[in-house]
Amino acid sequence: MDEEFHILIVDDEPNIRSGLAKGLKQEADYIETAGTVNEALDKFDSGAFQLVIADVRLPGDRGGLELVSLVQQRKPNTTVIVITAHGTVETAVDAMRRGAFDFITKPVDLNLIRQQVAKAAKHHRLQVENRQLKEKLAEAGEITGIVGNCRALTELLTQIRQIADTDATVLIRGESGTGKELIARAIHDFSARSTGPFIAVNLGALPETLLESELFGHEKGSFTGASRQKPGCFEQSAGGTLFLDELTEIPAKSQVDLLRVLETGQYARVGGEESLQSDARIVSATNRDIAHLVEDGEFREDLFYRLNIVPIEVPPLRQRRDDIPILVDHFLDHFCSRHRRTEKTINVDAMAVLIGASWPGNVRQLRNVIERLVVTVTSDVITASDLPNELTTKAGIVEGRVRSLAEVAEAAEKNAIQSALVANDFHREQTAKVLGVSVRTLHYKMNRYGLH
Ligand SMILES: Nc1ncnc2c1ncn2[C@@H]1O[C@H](COP(=O)(O)OP(=O)(O)OP(=O)(O)O)[C@@H](O)[C@H]1O
Ligand SMILES: [Mg+2]
Repeated sequence: MDEEFHILIVDDEPNIRSGLAKGLKQEADYIETAGTVNEALDKFDSGAFQLVIADVRLPGDRGGLELVSLVQQRKPNTTVIVITAHGTVETAVDAMRRGAFDFITKPVDLNLIRQQVAKAAKHHRLQVENRQLKEKLAEAGEITGIVGNCRALTELLTQIRQIADTDATVLIRGESGTGKELIARAIHDFSARSTGPFIAVNLGALPETLLESELFGHEKGSFTGASRQKPGCFEQSAGGTLFLDELTEIPAKSQVDLLRVLETGQYARVGGEESLQSDARIVSATNRDIAHLVEDGEFREDLFYRLNIVPIEVPPLRQRRDDIPILVDHFLDHFCSRHRRTEKTINVDAMAVLIGASWPGNVRQLRNVIERLVVTVTSDVITASDLPNELTTKAGIVEGRVRSLAEVAEAAEKNAIQSALVANDFHREQTAKVLGVSVRTLHYKMNRYGLH
């Protein structure tokens, strides 16, 4: 820590002043003393003190308690310890309410006060570090677009910065809508590969045959419709990052192919002979319990270990409610300007509902709710009665007046799958057939919509 630690001692008794100054010499870089509140304020204003130790009873019309308030008004980050007469608990409580860090009782025990000063110094150092970290993160937020400063998220961002420059594979786990893709992009943006491409592929979206060609590319004429050579995701992401989204949805055959690339660094285009060298950093994501799938033999253990060198866990929104107010403000700003609305605010009651909601769809759901409010609420202040019922009633039921097209489509799809499942006694193969999708796609969608 490069910042110095300066102490100001305020007491009307010269003996106590000099005794304390001498006794605390080891704990500080610089010590100054004062006998009255006025003298103390003069010295405080012309110096840079991190700690003030003040007697409560001082001569003149202002005492130590006023000094606590005055110091806190001037520099809220200053730590204050007050000295009170023995047995005056009320005074001590009053001092703490005014922002004092701690109190000591007379007669002053030098050893005890040394300990308290050491504690205050540590507290101060932590505060400074915390502030510096917050500033850095604010900077980071501007790069990544990740909003939030709860402990879990700040630790996560620190971790991302640390591992960004290595080529280690990263596996991001977290519920749907928690920001996994945003984090994958942040890893890319912080890395030396940031000038290279970021290529995302959804492993759940394609059937096995197409997936192979999507990942590794194909040669001209390798199958019907392959009218020319096409590079795959591995080739496209050379020098950059390849993001494998919905990792657990990858078919068994492709798991083997992927493992081979990770082990040897080599692959070939479909229908091609040439051995190509992979130069992509792999980041993958899943919202399922992959460890469980490994146990059940649905996901290859060897592949899991290769991809999971750096595991990153994104907590659901309900476990980081501290972030909800800043996310709300962020999305309000964002959508008001995008939809050209005048700036809107949200009242305390409405905010309380948002902070307390269960958010099964996490940040994505919050984002959708705020967008809808920006579009539908005509007054400048959003109140609790404007909020959709889904937040206060059964989770997940969307009761919207204006809904985005994507939401309408999703709701319709969810409904169709639900009815088909019921009509077919939850027989999955049969349901998939009726709906005209593969069983794998059905599983993926069921998982996505929470249908079990
Ligand atoms: N911390 C955050 N700050 C700002 N926006 C966020 C944050 N987390 C998520 N979002 C936004 O929420 C939406 C969902 O995030 P994202 O697509 O990264 O989630 P996901 O975890 O990949 O979800 P899924 O598992 O459903 O694919 C995006 O619009 C994203 O920008
Ligand atoms: Mg995603």
